[in-house]
Amino acid sequence: MNTVKNIFNFNNIPIWFMRQAGRYMYEYNNIKEKFNSFFSMCKNVDAVTDITMLPIKKFNFDAAIIFSDILIVLECLNIKVNFIKGKGPVVLNTDIYNIFKNKATNIEFEKLNPVYESIKSVKRELSSLNKPLIGFSGAPWTIAAYMLEGNLTKDLSVAKTIAYKDPKFINNVTHVLSDIIIKHIIKQIDSGVDMIQIFDTHSNTLDYYSKEKYSIEPVKNICKKVKELYPAIPISYFSKDTNYNLGELYKYIDILSFSSSVRMKDYTELVPKNIVFQGNLDPIKLIAGGKEMKNSIINILQEMNDKEFIFNLGHGILPQTPIENVEQCIDLVKSFKN
Ligand code: CP3
Repeated sequence: MNTVKNIFNFNNIPIWFMRQAGRYMYEYNNIKEKFNSFFSMCKNVDAVTDITMLPIKKFNFDAAIIFSDILIVLECLNIKVNFIKGKGPVVLNTDIYNIFKNKATNIEFEKLNPVYESIKSVKRELSSLNKPLIGFSGAPWTIAAYMLEGNLTKDLSVAKTIAYKDPKFINNVTHVLSDIIIKHIIKQIDSGVDMIQIFDTHSNTLDYYSKEKYSIEPVKNICKKVKELYPAIPISYFSKDTNYNLGELYKYIDILSFSSSVRMKDYTELVPKNIVFQGNLDPIKLIAGGKEMKNSIINILQEMNDKEFIFNLGHGILPQTPIENVEQCIDLVKSFKN
C-alpha cells in the first residue's frame, strides 16, 4: 500500500496539528520575543529547532513539522514580507511585474539554506524519539495570492483580477514559483524530512476552470516531479476547498488533508482507496472545548474507523486555544479504540 505506513503506525490513530508550534504556547511566545522579525526567527537554526520540538516534548504529537512559513520562498526572489500583528503577512510587491514579466528571473536560492540546516538539526533531536518530520511548501496559487494581493483582501479580488486579465503573466508567476517549490521540496527531502505537505489554502478562491489551470495542474506537476525522484516520500495535499475532485493529482499524492467544512466520510467512495485521509476538527471547537469538542472528536474517529486516518485540524491551530483542550483532544484520539 501506501508509503504513509512507513512513517506512521496505524495501530493507534496518529495525530499532529497544523501550526502545532505557535502562539497558543507561551514557550513559543518567549522565544519569539527575542527576534525583531518573524523571518529572522525562521532563519535561526537553534530557534527553529527548539520551536519545532516544543509541541513534541509538551504534547507527544506523532509527527513534527519543520517550523517555517510558506512565504519564506519569496526571500529568494528578494521580495520582502512583513508580519504585522492583526494584519497577517504583508508582501511588499511593488516590483512584482518586473520580476515575473519574463520567466527567467534572478533566484538566490541560498537564502533558504537555514531551512535545510534546521531540518538536519531537528532530525538529530528527533532520532531517539522515532517520530517523522514533515516538510512543507505552499502551492503556487496560494503563494501567488499573497504576493499579488500584498495584504490579502477578503475575496482575493486583486490576485484573481490579475489572473483573469493577464494569463501570460500569471502563467509566468506559476512557472517560476513551481520551479522554486520543486527545488525547495527536494532540498527538504535531501536534508531529511520524511513527508511533505503542500498547502494550497486558497485554491478555493478561483472558479472551477481557473482552479484547474492555476492551482491543481501546477500542484500535479510539482508532485509528479517529486514522486519520480522520491517515490517513498508521502505527499499530503491540503486546501480549504470542498471539491475534492482532484483527478490526476491523486496519482501523485498519498494523503488528503480536509478542511472542516466537509464530512470526510462522504468522500470515502469518491477518493481513490489508497489515499489516507487527514483532518478535520474545526480549530474553533478546540477553543470552545467541552462537550461539543469531545463529541466532534469522537464522531470524526468513529466515521473514519474503517480507513487509514491521521487526526488533524481542518486548518491551523489558533492563538487563543487553551492548552488543556489540546491535551484533552490528544488523549481522546490516543485512547480511542473501536
Ligand atoms: O504547522 C506548523 O507548525 C509549521 C509552521 C507553519 C507556519 N505557517 C508558521 C507560522 C506552517 C506550515 C505555515 C503555513 C502557512 N503560512 C500557510 C498555509 C496554512 C494555512 O494556515 O492556511 C499560510 C497561508 C501561511 C501564511 C501565513 N504566515 C499566515 C496567514 C500567517 C499568520 C498571520 C497571523 O497573524 O495569524 C503567517 C505567520 C505564521 N506562520 C505564524 C506561524 C506560527 C504566526 C507568526 C507569529 O508568531 O506572529
